[in-house]
Amino acid sequence: MQNFTFYNPTKILFGQGQIAALKAELPSSAKILLTYGGGSIHRNGVYAQVKAATSGHGVVEFGGIEPNPRFETLMRAVDLARAEQVDFILAVGGGSVIDGSKFIAAAFYHEGDAWAILADHAPVQRALPLGTVLTLPATGSEMNAFAVVTRESTHEKLPFSSPLVYPRFSVLDPTTTFTLPARQIANGVVDAFTHTMEQYLTYPVNAPLQDRFAEGILQTLIEEGPKTLEHPQDVDARSNMMWCATMALNGLIGAGVPQDWATHMIGHEITALHGLDHAQTLAVVLPATMQRQRGAKRDKLIQYGRRVWGITGEDDTTIDQAIAKTRAFFESLGVRTRLGDYGIAPEAIPALVAQLEKHGMVKLGERGDITPERSREILELCA
Ligand code: NZQ
Ligand code: ZN
Repeated sequence: MQNFTFYNPTKILFGQGQIAALKAELPSSAKILLTYGGGSIHRNGVYAQVKAATSGHGVVEFGGIEPNPRFETLMRAVDLARAEQVDFILAVGGGSVIDGSKFIAAAFYHEGDAWAILADHAPVQRALPLGTVLTLPATGSEMNAFAVVTRESTHEKLPFSSPLVYPRFSVLDPTTTFTLPARQIANGVVDAFTHTMEQYLTYPVNAPLQDRFAEGILQTLIEEGPKTLEHPQDVDARSNMMWCATMALNGLIGAGVPQDWATHMIGHEITALHGLDHAQTLAVVLPATMQRQRGAKRDKLIQYGRRVWGITGEDDTTIDQAIAKTRAFFESLGVRTRLGDYGIAPEAIPALVAQLEKHGMVKLGERGDITPERSREILELCA
């Protein structure tokens, strides 16, 4: 196992009715910036519950944070937060609202152009504290220090991370997810599955506990994912799905093991140029990465096939079947797995590779061996 530091300060309030409990988590004198997306929280009763829980506080609202949150929109929220002198952010929504709010929290204190936090890795020295109410299990943003922001004008989608943007608390009430369209819950299963794979499907470092944590999440998603799609109001299935998504990217399973993330970085460029949902890009790229990297990932691919899918037989056929089962699982959830399914022709590949190069994504993967040339090969396998 590799050396690691594990730190995660986010308090989780899990279960039905827990939105009311956030009242006790807010600093008593805080003036709150309440951030949300395109309005789903108005239609499913979450807004009313949040308003009740924040009734003792001054609250300024900022709605309209879009999926793949835009820098341009978020900077308007920063202006509002500064003008109103807020001192706490409460983000209510999915990964986009939470990521956007993390960026607002960091940009609030940033002098100069805040795009530098994303493009130039300008260090985050200070950030507003934030809490979240999660309504879409997928990204793990509710319990991690990452955020991804898109600049509409230049079609760039870039991540940043800082320990200062860990949420102070996150409310995970599975009943808030009942109103999710099937496409979004399927996206959530694919995203959580891929987060687990990015930290598991690398090479062995004798870390059996992390391996089994990861295999447990993958197997639970395989069992609960279809159930939660078929029965959207099955609170047990939603609870299990929600906790899987959080555990998939809160640092636990990735501690002390190599990590890949090539699928995500290639996927971000597809979203930036072609507007696919984040998880749609992962469903396309992950099977292709597995195929192209099957040599480098051989030992873990065999372990994955045997332990997660129960495949028996020769090593090479186990790998073939493991990749095929992964693709079939995503397809069974209704998430298509080929670029062509989204109307993207092979002619689009050079521009995607050029974007990766522009963003310095030239040594991706757990071994740093995914050069732009290999990213191109992976993208060709996505066709
Ligand atoms: O905007 P509203 O009206 O709320 O509607 C949203 C949005 O249209 C809707 N929705 C959310 N909760 C709902 C609901 N509709 C009905 N009922 C509910 N309970 O769902 C749509 C998609 O929401 P979004 O927040 O965009 O989805 P998701 O949670 O999948 O977040 C995706 C973003 O997170 C980033 C992605 O790149 C993408 O920008 N990621 C963040 C990560 C992190 N912070 O660690 C890691 C991930 O790999 C990912 O990159
Ligand atoms: Zn993801």
